[in-house]
Amino acid sequence: MRTVAPERAVWPSGTRPSLDGDVAVGGVGLAALAGRFGTPVHVVDEADVRLRCRAFRGAFRHGEVAYAGKAFLCRAMASWVEEEKLSLDVCSAGELAVARASRFPAERILMHGNAKTPEDLGAALSYGGGRIRIVVDAFQEIARLGALADRALRPRMLVRVTPGVDGGTHKSISTGTDDQQFGFSLASGAAAEAVRRALAQRRLDLRGLHCHIGSQITDPAAFEEAARRMVGLLAAIREEHGVTLPQLDLGGGFGVPYEGGERALDPAELASRLNRAVADACALHRLPVPRITIEPGRSIVARAGVTVYRVVSVKHGLAGSLTVAVNGGMSDNPRPSLYGARYTVRMIGRRAPGGERRATVVGRHCEAGDVLVREASLPADLRPGDLLAVPCTGAYHHSMASNYNLVRRPPVVAVRDGRARLLVRRETEEDLLRRDLG
Ligand code: LLP
Repeated sequence: MRTVAPERAVWPSGTRPSLDGDVAVGGVGLAALAGRFGTPVHVVDEADVRLRCRAFRGAFRHGEVAYAGKAFLCRAMASWVEEEKLSLDVCSAGELAVARASRFPAERILMHGNAKTPEDLGAALSYGGGRIRIVVDAFQEIARLGALADRALRPRMLVRVTPGVDGGTHKSISTGTDDQQFGFSLASGAAAEAVRRALAQRRLDLRGLHCHIGSQITDPAAFEEAARRMVGLLAAIREEHGVTLPQLDLGGGFGVPYEGGERALDPAELASRLNRAVADACALHRLPVPRITIEPGRSIVARAGVTVYRVVSVKHGLAGSLTVAVNGGMSDNPRPSLYGARYTVRMIGRRAPGGERRATVVGRHCEAGDVLVREASLPADLRPGDLLAVPCTGAYHHSMASNYNLVRRPPVVAVRDGRARLLVRRETEEDLLRRDLG
């Protein structure tokens, strides 16, 4: 796999440093943007999102690329993805409401979830007259969908399979093995039984199989192995039922670099390896090649995002350590505390004449674990009021933000061709109080 040069790999593709120490993304200087919209602020580079969409679309020309909305979703994002001819994966009635508000075509939506509520299923069945594909994840769900179906409504569905492949990622985001809550186990026979039950219900329209082995996986061999096992199940289904399922959804999980020098999965190489693994396995089983779907989330939007914070305080420790506290933290980026995720950080907005120092960038929340960046290299004269930019924050940041400590969630600002556009406004104190009925 290609290793992309440090720094560049973690910033949006159109990032340009300027001589005054600022950085422009999508043609917009981040310091001016912070002045206009306040801090913390999530910035998303529209051109970068579209570039990644096109790279996946081009690489999987004959398949379907469904963007996983859980990484980051708002109406503008849904429209960009739609315009770039991707499909959309949603995992709740809430995400579907956003898709619906942007008029995303129902036949290009898939709904996931290991515990879809009646509200989720109802929303999925009512939008587009049953054209949304529902990825079933439990026996009870097959029964529920069977009960909701009638002559006019034949729910389209895929069965989520746990293929028993460990993608070598953090345990909290590893979903391909039998020791977690997602899917029907291939090894135990539960997956075959789920297919049996789905096919037994004439009012259910079983379209294919799905698997998602986890997130932030950088070894393509894990995806190939999952693909081979899934084709094995397709062959077993044809053997048992005489049915050839037309779709194979191999999920998302393609890793991106968060720090310079890390491995990036190249969409073209990934596509050629996955297509070959599926084609070879199909040839072995004398099976027609199914239509492949993939569901990238992070690899579409992570690198398009930069979060800008303002330094609130700087503390010098006994052993010469430097602790820099900013006006955000685990409420806008819980990933370091959840997964030990590591980031880079850069001061923007002025030139730093002196040298650099080792520093720890911490958040504003009342926990010692609220550390955003460890072992950062920052200007020795860093002071309150300075701006810090953390790149690669487009995926699972805004979508995972909370109100912890009743801190208001930051806005999302899109940049493109030198212009900034507010997509999601900053939360207000009125927003916080609106749900508190006193
Ligand atoms: N498809 C399914 C069924 C999924 O559950 C997920 C992510 C994806 C696709 C997209 O995966 P991606 O390409 O983004 O890796 N909050 C964690 C990541 C959780 C991923 C959950 N499922 C993080 O911040 O690392």
